[in-house]
Amino acid sequence: MKGCMVVGKFVVEGGRTLQGEVRVQGSKNSTLPILAASLLCRGESVLYNCPQLTDVEASLTILRYIGCTARREGDVVIVDTGCVERNDIPSALMHRMRSSIIFLGAMIARFDRVKMSFPGGCELGPRPIDLHLNALREMGVEISEEHGELDCCITDRLHGANIALTIPSVGATENIMIAAATAEGTTIISNAAREPEITDLADYLTACGAKISGAGESTVIIDGVARLHPASHAIIPDRIVAATLMSAAAVTGSDIRFKSIIPSHLGSILPVFRECGCDIQCVGDGMSFHSPYRLRSPKLIRTMPYPGFPTDAQAPLMSVAAVADGLTVFVENMFESRYGHVSELCRLGADIRVEGRVAVVAGARRLLSARVRARDLRGAASLVVAALSARGVSEIEGIEYLERGYEDFELVLSALGAEIKKL
Ligand code: EPZ
Repeated sequence: MKGCMVVGKFVVEGGRTLQGEVRVQGSKNSTLPILAASLLCRGESVLYNCPQLTDVEASLTILRYIGCTARREGDVVIVDTGCVERNDIPSALMHRMRSSIIFLGAMIARFDRVKMSFPGGCELGPRPIDLHLNALREMGVEISEEHGELDCCITDRLHGANIALTIPSVGATENIMIAAATAEGTTIISNAAREPEITDLADYLTACGAKISGAGESTVIIDGVARLHPASHAIIPDRIVAATLMSAAAVTGSDIRFKSIIPSHLGSILPVFRECGCDIQCVGDGMSFHSPYRLRSPKLIRTMPYPGFPTDAQAPLMSVAAVADGLTVFVENMFESRYGHVSELCRLGADIRVEGRVAVVAGARRLLSARVRARDLRGAASLVVAALSARGVSEIEGIEYLERGYEDFELVLSALGAEIKKL
């Protein structure tokens, strides 16, 4: 698949049950920071289970722009960061992927001088980066922010610091870990994010020779080392894609077998599906998922930092609540405007009312097909899930959002018996 944004739509004939076995792709939110971190290794790193996504392609494009080579062989990505020529990321590349800020920690540790534009916000609302910048300043980076451009430089040296995050920010935790890996001295991150993607990044950095303890906990300690060496690493499965496929199974009353999942990463998600009446059995990295004919509503879903319920699963689970028996209250605590999918779900017949961060969903017996438009990545996923349960043929426009995070999603669903085409 090319790295360009594919503009297109899905046509979905809903009302069919799914069946069979599905393998969950590698995690987008683990791949992106690890690709950035590979800049520290000055050699060839091999990443296994790397999903084919436009956000991953955008990251590879940034690495190539900097002067690295990057090639893909199936789901293996080989990056060689030995040679570099540039220390900036132009706005065109920054705007293709909002989370490109994750390159800052790696680039400032490698180049001592970095220029990059930073996108103000995205579909989810403003995406501030104050925690990233304040932390790097405490580590000795001078940063000026003017006209949406960051100009960063290290006048003395990049050194460790004691950093207390006011919010357990995933991206800020990742940027600090990466910059600290080869900084002089020790860095302690308090109130660090605990997402599994943080632990996966720490595992890759450790394989490259970094000295990190506490990843996945609220306090992470990084002892800077002089240099890192390349390593190979297998990306963890994508827990949000797993939650999305479980939502698709639940709303179609299906029995699906999952391969390559890590149940402990779904600790706050599995109970929600069990509350809906789904029967879930996990054995090793496999899971059998049986849906009842009629779902019970999950009552209350509040998004929280990991290990709480993930904000990225809020939209897909809203499609489950939309056809469950009863009321569900959602509280979106992580982002200011993450209900872009609600108006489109209502066009499919969902009964949802939004008041600020709260959305109240009254489950409908059935959704009805419609033409809808996606506005963001997880909202697009929720519309696909809802269309699979809606009787009739629905059209979903804006699937370029979906292709940022879901690899060949229409093929994965077709293989399970869904009637879905990409036009
Ligand atoms: C990561 O974004 C994920 N993206 C997001 O997934 C995910 O929703 C989010 O973490 C929360 O889990 C990637 O990993 C690439 P944060 P990130 O910094 O790091 C505020 C998806 O769908 N904040 O943990 O940007 C921020 O506004 C994407 O795959 C500051 O105020 O999220 C938000 O309210 C969407 N200042 C909260 O913290 C900062 O400097 C959590 O954001 C940074 C963040």
